[in-house]
Amino acid sequence: MREIGVGLVSLGWMGRLHAESYRRIPARFPELGLRPRLAVAADPVPENQRAAREEFGFERAVGSIEEVLADPEVEVVSLCSPNFLHRDFALAAAAAGKPFWIEKPMGVCAAQSREIRDAARAAGIATAVGFNYRHAPAVEHLRALVAAGRLGRVTNVRCWLIADYASSPRGPLTWRYDREKAGSGVIGDLLSHGADLVAYVTGQRIAEVSARTDVFIPRRPIPTKVGVGHGGFEVGSQTGPVGNEDWVAALATLSGGAHATLESSRVARGHRSDYAIEVFGTDGSARWSFTRMNEFEVMLGDGGTEHGYTTVLAGAGHGDYARFQPGPGIPMSFDDLKTIEAAQFLADATTASQSAPNASDGLAAAEVSEAIVRSAASRSWVEVPEIEGTTSAF
Ligand SMILES: NC(=O)c1ccc[n+]([C@@H]2O[C@H](COP(=O)([O-])OP(=O)(O)OC[C@H]3O[C@@H](n4cnc5c(N)ncnc54)[C@H](O)[C@@H]3O)[C@@H](O)[C@H]2O)c1
Repeated sequence: MREIGVGLVSLGWMGRLHAESYRRIPARFPELGLRPRLAVAADPVPENQRAAREEFGFERAVGSIEEVLADPEVEVVSLCSPNFLHRDFALAAAAAGKPFWIEKPMGVCAAQSREIRDAARAAGIATAVGFNYRHAPAVEHLRALVAAGRLGRVTNVRCWLIADYASSPRGPLTWRYDREKAGSGVIGDLLSHGADLVAYVTGQRIAEVSARTDVFIPRRPIPTKVGVGHGGFEVGSQTGPVGNEDWVAALATLSGGAHATLESSRVARGHRSDYAIEVFGTDGSARWSFTRMNEFEVMLGDGGTEHGYTTVLAGAGHGDYARFQPGPGIPMSFDDLKTIEAAQFLADATTASQSAPNASDGLAAAEVSEAIVRSAASRSWVEVPEIEGTTSAF
């Protein structure tokens, strides 16, 4: 197996998961012939540098991305920082000629995302964007059903990403609630996954949107201790303003004429991570929910007196399932989706393949997000520019 040197920037929730995902590649995707070598990780927090070395097995841990990009051992990089750093870090990686796997949302706005896509294109490097829900075997199968015409003509789609991670007013005011640091709120954080899922499953891009947004918890306590992802924070009595939306609902028209509704919330009590897509067609319908990631429901034809959904458990023949479980119906995990993404990224970085969601897909989702923000502000329909080079069309 060939060793491939990996550099990683930011050892938070996603950085840790990227690191673990690389390590699983030789066993899950042996045909790639690649053994990722965790060369260097960058994070300004000393405790994260220690964890990078001692817990995740990086050979070196440093404080800045510059030290990662200057390392000749680094052939590919993971960019897992808060959103406001994505543009500068991605442009630096492109200038260094290093293929990058960047987390979503790609930039804090569509203009930044376009800069990232253009820089990667000019440098001729492979890119991957963290639209992990695509890789669920059941989602891959929904896309295959639609592409094969099994549902007939797609008429409409419902997609929602409803979570409760910010439902407590005592939840910390992290970078995610800061317009400068995150860009939009739940639109970039969750709905961007939905924009990608709708395009990926239907093969149709979102062409036009009409949306509403709201902030339900306008002030939050300032953290006195920083955590990882959404956990491990401590807060004091001082509060600050929330700078971006908690909730969004959008009506959309797809490029093939189908209609879609998309909704996201980060403050929906009772919904933990309820992410789902339902596709309706003239000959059937199918649906998937992340809360039951390893199954999907399908209804083909008119069903006669047994009209209704059939539940299908994931198994061999659905996406990459067989790489993870030897028998049908054994659950895969969220982390497995990231391993698939890592493998697609490394395949694209080392061969002429294009399998991972790439920077054009990241830009396409960013344009949908931006159109939604503009529609909510103007209370009107907004067109979404078409992006070439995405991987979602059939
Ligand atoms: N694909 C998904 O499902 C998914 C899930 C969660 C987060 N994300 C995305 O991943 C990204 C990171 O989110 P997270 O939850 O891992 O964040 P996090 O808050 O857990 O971690 C951020 C890390 O960035 C580090 N950092 C801050 N400034 C830095 C700098 N100048 N240089 C290098 N590192 C720096 C911090 O020390 C911290 O370790 C975001 O873009 C987020 O939207 C994606």
